Amino acid sequence: PAVQHSFCDHEPHHLHQSEGPGFAVSATQESATHAFWLAGRAATGEDTFDVTSPWDNRLVGTVSIPTEAQVEEAVAASVAVQAEFAATPAHVRAAALDHVTKRLTERTEEIAQLISAENGKPMKWARGEVGRAISVFRFATEEARRFNGGEAQRLDTDAGGVGRLALTRRFPRGTVLGIAPFNFPLNLCAHKVAPAIAVGTPIILKPAPATPLSALLLGELLAETDLPAGAWSVLPVPNDRMPALVQDERLPVISFTGSDKVGYAIMESVPRKHCTLELGGNGAAVVLPDFASEADLDWAATRIATFSNYQGGQSCISVQRVIADASLYERLIPKVVAAVEAQVTGDPSDEATEVGPLVSEDAAKRVESWVEEAVRGGATLLAGGKRDGASYAPTVLADVPADATLAREEIFGPVLTLHKVDGEDAAFQAVNDSKYGLQAGVFTHDTRAAFRAHRALEVGGVIIGDVPSYRADQMPYGGAKQSGVGREGVRFAMDDYTYERVMVFTGIDL
Ligand code: SIN
Repeated sequence: PAVQHSFCDHEPHHLHQSEGPGFAVSATQESATHAFWLAGRAATGEDTFDVTSPWDNRLVGTVSIPTEAQVEEAVAASVAVQAEFAATPAHVRAAALDHVTKRLTERTEEIAQLISAENGKPMKWARGEVGRAISVFRFATEEARRFNGGEAQRLDTDAGGVGRLALTRRFPRGTVLGIAPFNFPLNLCAHKVAPAIAVGTPIILKPAPATPLSALLLGELLAETDLPAGAWSVLPVPNDRMPALVQDERLPVISFTGSDKVGYAIMESVPRKHCTLELGGNGAAVVLPDFASEADLDWAATRIATFSNYQGGQSCISVQRVIADASLYERLIPKVVAAVEAQVTGDPSDEATEVGPLVSEDAAKRVESWVEEAVRGGATLLAGGKRDGASYAPTVLADVPADATLAREEIFGPVLTLHKVDGEDAAFQAVNDSKYGLQAGVFTHDTRAAFRAHRALEVGGVIIGDVPSYRADQMPYGGAKQSGVGREGVRFAMDDYTYERVMVFTGIDL
């Protein structure tokens, strides 16, 4: 069927804004079984699974699981629509993206409650996540209009190219398989879906089993648009059935966010596919000697404490390591410990709460065991170190032995380790002494030191004057070393989902 061009840039909202049928997902409809989205329409399978709150284990929703035949239908539909979707005018794709931007804005509070309920994220962070997803769709709306104007290049720079002109444009690689994590259940789905729509490539989104409801709600908003059937599906496929989907040759692009173990297993299982992997990190915040006034140290301590604990430390760019110059270390540490102890922990639905539970009790037990191992090995516990169910107290450790698990791996919990170093070179070396390289923060006022950090640090992003946890959703985001391959950030994901194809004109009067 032809693409329905039934809305334009100025009138995108007359469509089916369903709040009610069986597939509507809402934080208040906790007992409903949530349909998934198969080639743009709501569908149910034969089995279900429950989504529970990590805070109090209450049932947040029951989710229908697609059968193998339904997954096959979604893949086949995505392949069938590829040419049609790629040919959709930019203004149509931009209007769909704009529609989602506006609907996310209108439903912010409800969606934030849903994120908080399924993920355990405190409301203030959940609202922030919706705000970021709105930005992602807004950026994608803008980029969809700008993308692929084509670049002309004269070829008569050599005798063989006289009368020839090359025109380069980007075309989709094919259907994207987007695999999203639990820690930002809406925004990291937005980062996969919005760029796909912007370039006109179909996407099959697989949300995390612990947090599928936000992705299904995003599907509800996409279903209100006139994007062609097959252009998108949201399929909560169980993890043990994913290898078959990953292997499917009709899905040439895999965009994965999650652990390095799973990410590299995926990439190694499909060496001929185009894989983007957003993997782990063990974010370092460096405090250089010039950042030494009381106000500087107060700022650094507050930011470090907030961003080692936001979302229970379950962000790939949360602060895991503080690397402070010896000249100010003794003054900084009490401030960091006090700021960490001041974090308000508790019920994520309470407006005052800053740190909620981890995603599961198992996750909190893993963090507990790593901290205990470090303390047994000689680390000094300066704050926290206690678990209550899925909650783990904001924790600070010093003197962590280099061979402790939490010195080498991504903690993904509210735990901070402190390191004293002598001088800038030692600080940068300490940052690089890791298999990971996602982002680093450098507290300095010295522009030349900032440029030295940018040159020396083996990471995907260097944040000057702040923690590594700063991410603007339009900037390139991704890792060096074992933190991943490729970049997200709307325009960068659009490049990633497409490839350059050159057309050469012959006999042109240049
Ligand atoms: C991540 O955990 O990799 C995402 C961090 C973010 O988007 O802020």
